[in-house]
Formats: sequence, C-alpha cells, structure tokens
Amino acid sequence: MPEQIEETFERTQKDLTIFLRLWKYIRKYWLILILSLVLMLASALLDLVPPILIRNAIDRYMNVTHTFELVDGKWVEAPEGTFKLVKKADAYYLTDGNKEYMVDETFVKSIKEKDYQKLLTLGMIFMGVLLAQFASTYGHTYSTNYLGQRVVYDIRMNLYRHILRIPLSFFDRTPTGKIATRIANDTQNLSEFFSSVITSLVKDVFLIAGILYMMFNLSFYLTARTFFVIPLIIGATLIFRIFDRKAYRLVRTRIAALNAFLSEHISGMSLIQIFNRQKRKHGEFEEVSNRLLKAQLKQMIVFAIFRPLMDVIYHIGLCAVIWFGGKGILNGELSFGILYAFVSYVDMFFRPIRDIAEKYDILQNAFASAEKIFNLMDTPREKLNEGGRTIIPEASVEFQNVWFAYEDENWVLKDISFKIKEGERVGFVGETGAGKSSIMNLISGLYRIQKGRILIGGVPLEEYDLRALRRQIAVVQQDVFLFSGTILDNIRLFDESISRERVESVGREVKLDHFVSRFPNGYMSNVLERASTLSAGERQLVALARGKLFGARILLLDEATANVDVDTEFYIQQALEALKGVTLIVIAHRLATVRNLDRIYVVHAGRIVEVGTHQELMAKKGLYYDLYRVQYAEV
Ligand SMILES: Nc1ncnc2c1ncn2[C@@H]1O[C@H](COP(=O)(O)OP(=O)(O)OP(=O)(O)O)[C@@H](O)[C@H]1O
Ligand SMILES: [Mg+2]
Repeated sequence: MPEQIEETFERTQKDLTIFLRLWKYIRKYWLILILSLVLMLASALLDLVPPILIRNAIDRYMNVTHTFELVDGKWVEAPEGTFKLVKKADAYYLTDGNKEYMVDETFVKSIKEKDYQKLLTLGMIFMGVLLAQFASTYGHTYSTNYLGQRVVYDIRMNLYRHILRIPLSFFDRTPTGKIATRIANDTQNLSEFFSSVITSLVKDVFLIAGILYMMFNLSFYLTARTFFVIPLIIGATLIFRIFDRKAYRLVRTRIAALNAFLSEHISGMSLIQIFNRQKRKHGEFEEVSNRLLKAQLKQMIVFAIFRPLMDVIYHIGLCAVIWFGGKGILNGELSFGILYAFVSYVDMFFRPIRDIAEKYDILQNAFASAEKIFNLMDTPREKLNEGGRTIIPEASVEFQNVWFAYEDENWVLKDISFKIKEGERVGFVGETGAGKSSIMNLISGLYRIQKGRILIGGVPLEEYDLRALRRQIAVVQQDVFLFSGTILDNIRLFDESISRERVESVGREVKLDHFVSRFPNGYMSNVLERASTLSAGERQLVALARGKLFGARILLLDEATANVDVDTEFYIQQALEALKGVTLIVIAHRLATVRNLDRIYVVHAGRIVEVGTHQELMAKKGLYYDLYRVQYAEV
C-alpha cells in the first residue's frame, strides 16, 4: 500500500527549459548576480595564493645561502660571489673553501635582519590575503544567498498567487498535501540550489581551473608525473554519482511517502482513535518508516565507500608527488618550496571535485522541484471574467435544464429547472449525495455546467464578473472553515476598516452574540486551527453574520450535517428569520428548518422530484412525506 503514496515523478522538460524559466526570476537581480560572481572569482583566486606565498617564504627567505665578494676592502653581498658565511665555534667566517676571514657579530646581524624583514613583510601579505579571503567569501556567500532567497520568495509568492486563482475542480483532484509540498518543500529545494549549489559549484569550477593552471606553472615535471590521479578521481566520482543518485532518489521518495502517511493519518486521528485502529496504523507506519530507514542506510553505504575511496586516491596522489618531487629535489630540479606548494594544491584539488559530485544531486533535485513548481504555475487560472457585469439587477436565481458533472459524464445534476424570485425563501431537501450542495456550488459559479443555463437576476451567470457576483451571494457551507484569528476577524474577514461595533450589531441580528458571550473574550476570542473548538452550527452562525455584514442579496445556507444541538438549531432559525429581504436558499437536513419556507424542492439522485410547501408536500404523501416520517415518526 505505501507503494502508492510514494510520489513518483518523471522529468519531462529539459534542464535548459527549466533553467531559462528560472533565469527569468534571477534576471531581475542581475547586479547582485554579477557582484557575487566577481566575488566568487576573487575568492577562488585568493584561495590559490597562500601556497605560493609559503613557497616563496621557504625558497627565498628560509633556505637561502648568501654569497659575498670583497670590493674595495669591504664585504658586500653579491649574487655571484664566491664567499659564504659559516659559523665555527661561536665565531662567523667568510670562506670560499680556501681562504677564511673572520667577520664580527654586527655584520652577521645586519644580514639576518634583512631576511627577517622580508619574512615579516611576507607574513603581513599573508595576513592581508587571509582577510581578503574572508571578506570575499563572506561577500559571495551572502550575496548569492540573498539572491537565492529573493528569487525563492518571488517564486513562492507567484505560486501562491496562482493557486488562489486555480478553479476549485483542480483541488478536488489534487490532494492538499501535494499542493502544500509544492509551496513549502519544493521552493525549499530551490533555495538549497542557490545556497549550496550555485555558491560552491561556480567557485569549485573556478578553483579547479586555477589549481591546474598553478600546478602546470609551478612544475610541469611534477604535474605530468602525477596527472594519472585525475582520471582516477573522475572515474571514482562518476561511479559514485550513479549509485548515489539511485540511493538519493529512493530516500526522497520514501520521505515523501512518510510525510504523506503522517499528514493523512494525523488529519484522520479522531477516526483512528474512535475505531481503535492504533495498532494497525502503528504497524503500517512501522512499514513506511522501515522503508525509509533501509533507503537511508543504502545511501550511507554509498557515502561510506566514496569518502574513504577518495581519501585513498588522495594519498596515492600525495605519494606520487612526494616520490617524484623527492627525486626532483635530489636531482636539483625542484626546490623544496615548490614541493610544498604542490602538496597544498593536490590537497586543495580534491575538495571541489568531491563538492561537485555531492552537489550534483541537489542540483537535479532542485530542477525536478522547479519543474513541478512550473507545472503547477501552468495550470490554467479560473476565468473570473473581469470586466463583466458587476451588479445583480434583481436577486433571483433560475436554473434552466441544468446538467452538471464534476468529471466526465457522471451526471450529478440531471435536467434541473427552478426559479426563485427576489426575496423568496426556499429550501432544498433530499438524501445524502442527492446533489444539493452541488446546486449551491453552481450558483456561486465555483464550477461550470455542461448543459443548460443558470440565470442570476435574469442574466446568464457567465456574463458576470465572478468576483463581483460572489460579493453579492453569501454562502454558508455545510462545513464552515474558519481562519485562525479572532471571531471578530473571521466575521469581517480581516477587513480592519469594519468597526467592532458594526460587527457586534450584526452579530446581535443573527443571534450570534448568544454564544459568543459565553467566551471569556467575546468577539476577541481566538478560533483555533480549523475551528475545532466551535461546533458546526456555531461556525455557520459566524458565516451567516459575515454574509449579513457584507450585504449579500442572495444567501445560500447548506445546513451542517453534523449534529447541531437543539439550541443552536433554534438560533440558526431565528437568524434566518432576521435576514428578511434577502433571497434565501436553504439546504436542510432537518426538515424542521424548512417547514416555514415559501417553497421546498425535493432532490433525488440529481433530479428535482417534488416541489411545494410543507403542507402540500405532506399531503402528496411522496418522497418528502417519507423523509419526514423517517425523521419524526418515532419521536
Ligand atoms: N468535488 C467533487 N468532485 C467529484 N464528485 C463530487 C464532488 N462533490 C460532490 N461530488 C459527488 O456529487 C454527488 C452529489 O454531491 P453533493 O455534495 O451535491 O450531495 P448533497 O446532496 O449535498 O449531499 P449531503 O446531503 O451529504 O450534503 C455525490 O455523488 C458526490 O460524491
Ligand atoms: Mg451537501
């Protein structure tokens, strides 16, 4: 079973296509991009400097033999001189092998002083390089991350803005978790692409090129003899990549499966506990979790082999350098400083290569995420028909031979016709699944019908600007969703320009204050996530108040199926009474709710089968009568 939850994803777009789309977002920040590339280049160059400095320190200032010549009775330092300074029994002499002249301490000191001075200057330069290295590394890390986070922010905002406009039918087909993953995780993957891939990858490439250049420059002799490790490194890295890629994918899909499992089961926790499914669910989770464990262990093995393997290759390279380098020094072809610098570069060479190998999958993953994000961005938006009609001439609703299916030809509504005039109060009743809520969804234009016509105020629904239309139609859904925030804000939909007094006065009209007054903070009480602290009926009252507050002219109420206590039921009825003047369409499960309405439609299997007032329908002894008897006969 968990097999099915694992999200499999096949890339269909080319890397280049995706990159070009990403580029559109990056382009905006071109200045920062250039800055960070320059800083990256600088930082790579600066990384190459220290071995050269040390090489100079060794070869020029530590390992030098000064030579002298006697000019006009004075000893002067001369590069081609034949006399060398030697120390014998606490005294210094200048000698060319035959003759020996003693020199005093001050002469020796002045010579050494110069060497110290040069070494000190070199030390200062070294410090300067280190500081510059720090600054440039900081600069490029910060600027690429800044760029990346801005881009990811833009993409995230664009994506969410797009999702807000996708037609509802899309959400019926796509699990919430998947959409949330797109916004949260996939953008996170992209962010990793910037923070770890771009930053290091570009620098790594600069570095590798720089190191190779320096090595050839330092000593062609050594480079040529140690070059054989490079194919070894590349070969090992390629092989590693193949295995790692598989292992990495497996881990990813299993993490996705685990997440999907968790989000589904935590949402369904009450069901699990009610039906005592803990043990079984625990078992299922164990399986999902175990699969993840195995995948992660597999990945570990790949890494556990790769890292030491690279170490071994590194040491082979090092041995080669020391072997050939040592020979070079003995033959006088190489200096000790060059050997030192060479060893440093070999050491440095492995880091970027390993980095590139390890970052490659992050790159792949980021591109996969980008593709998924772009796919979601490509889902067509809901056509709101902006610029269409904005005012309902009359608050009437008419269906003319409406046929509707959520998908294909599974007709949910079949040939529905009715006309509700302005100010009328009608009810829809019927068994569960009959299609009542679907009728309501159609009136507010959430779905498109396949056949027939819907007229609002005598005008076809398609001619309206949907946003304007929805402002004039208040919908109280079967299961009212509340945002986390105060009751006050949920009524005025976070519109601060609506005063608390106004909200409270509307609240009184729709009998909301009765239960709000039970809360210690009244209207300022917080509703928790998903409003589990409010009953279904109470939430409906909040939504009713909202409809009233925003001056809706048509009100659709889909009575909660979940049991509403007698008190709340009474208040809902009272509230409906108070909503005089609006056209009211109530979908009822308790027939008592619709009893006093002007007209009642009985829906059965997607068709309207009976119409009339309560009395008329009771007299008919048809479906309504049966429904009524089922509900009240035993009482
Ligand atoms: N979003 C959807 N996608 C696909 N099918 C749906 C969707 N919503 C409802 N249906 C199907 O349409 C039919 C009618 O559903 P609808 O919600 O209109 O019934 P209802 O009369 O409101 O039922 P209830 O009394 O239980 O609220 C049902 O068979 C249902 O499975
Ligand atoms: Mg319903």
